[in-house]
Formats: sequence, C-alpha cells, structure tokens
Amino acid sequence: MIAEMLIVHSILVKTFLGFLVGGLLIPMMTAKNPLGFKKASFIYTMIFQAIATMIAFTGIIAVFSGDLGWPLSTIIMVVIWAVLMYIEIKKHKLIKIANLQNPETHKLLKGVFLKISLVQILLVAVMVVLMVLKAKGIIAL
Ligand code: HEM
Repeated sequence: MIAEMLIVHSILVKTFLGFLVGGLLIPMMTAKNPLGFKKASFIYTMIFQAIATMIAFTGIIAVFSGDLGWPLSTIIMVVIWAVLMYIEIKKHKLIKIANLQNPETHKLLKGVFLKISLVQILLVAVMVVLMVLKAKGIIAL
C-alpha cells in the first residue's frame, strides 16, 4: 500500500511539473485574446488544484499507512504545498475579477501568470532535487 502510494505520489509530482511548464504557454497563446486567457486560466486552476489535491492525498496516506512520521522533508513538502495552493488561488481570483478588456490590465496579468508559474516550477523542482539528494544519502532530511 505505502509503496504504491509513493509511486503514485512520485508520478503525480512529475506530472504536475510537466503541467506547470505546459501552462507557461497559456499567457503566450492568449496574448491577443483576453476572454480566452480568462477561460484558460479557469480550466488551468481546476486541473492545478485537482493534481495538487491528489499529491497531498497520496502523501498523507503514505505518512499514516506507513507510519512514516513527520521528518523535515515531509514538513517542507506540506509547507510548499500550502504555498503553491495559496498563490495559485490568489492568482486565479485576480484574473477572474480583472477587466481584461483593458489592454494594460491584460498585459500586467499575463506577466503575473508567467512569474507565478516560474516560482511554482522552481518550488516543485527544488523539492524533487531535495528528495533525490535525500534518497542518495547526500543530505539528511
Ligand atoms: C500534504 C502534502 C504532502 C505529503 C504529506 C507528502 C508526503 C510524502 C512522503 C511521506 C514521501 C516519502 C518520503 C521519503 O521517502 O522519505 C514523499 C515523497 C516525495 N514527495 Fe511528497 N508529500 C506532500 C506533498 C508534496 C509536494 C507538494 C511535492 C512537490 C513539490 C512533493 C514531492 C515529493 C517527492 C519528489 C518525493 C520523492 C518521491 C520519490 O521517491 O520519487 N510532495 N512525500
């Protein structure tokens, strides 16, 4: 059970990373289409939250079913997870209520989308690297 959960957790994290990188295309492909940007942002945030929820679910099941306790690495994951969700929800709310017909606002939020995606990609990538280093015994977490 715990082995399967961790495999699924690991696959989901990599899928999530691919999804985040793919999401960078949204502001680029909808540069001249404010309504398309708003719609794509909505679909994007739904998928983002669905994958993130599955990551937390598989992680928590692994912690409890495997009696793994709460080492620093797992605490860092929970904190990163909360930060990822928090900034994603804030970003989507901003895009949802904005008047994107105003070209300045559209341009500004395109930049916000890209920058937030880059921060999210960095956070996930750092966590993957930390876990690889932990698995190799290079760092003790
Ligand atoms: C509530 C949230 C989460 C919980 C409870 C959780 C829990 C866990 C646990 C218990 C492990 C196994 C630890 C070990 O082998 O020492 C693990 C592995 C891992 N987690 Fe999480 N996790 C969560 C969220 C995340 C997030 C948001 C990320 C990415 C940013 C992430 C990335 C990883 C990676 C890369 C591994 C190593 C997987 C592998 O062996 O290939 N986790 N997680």
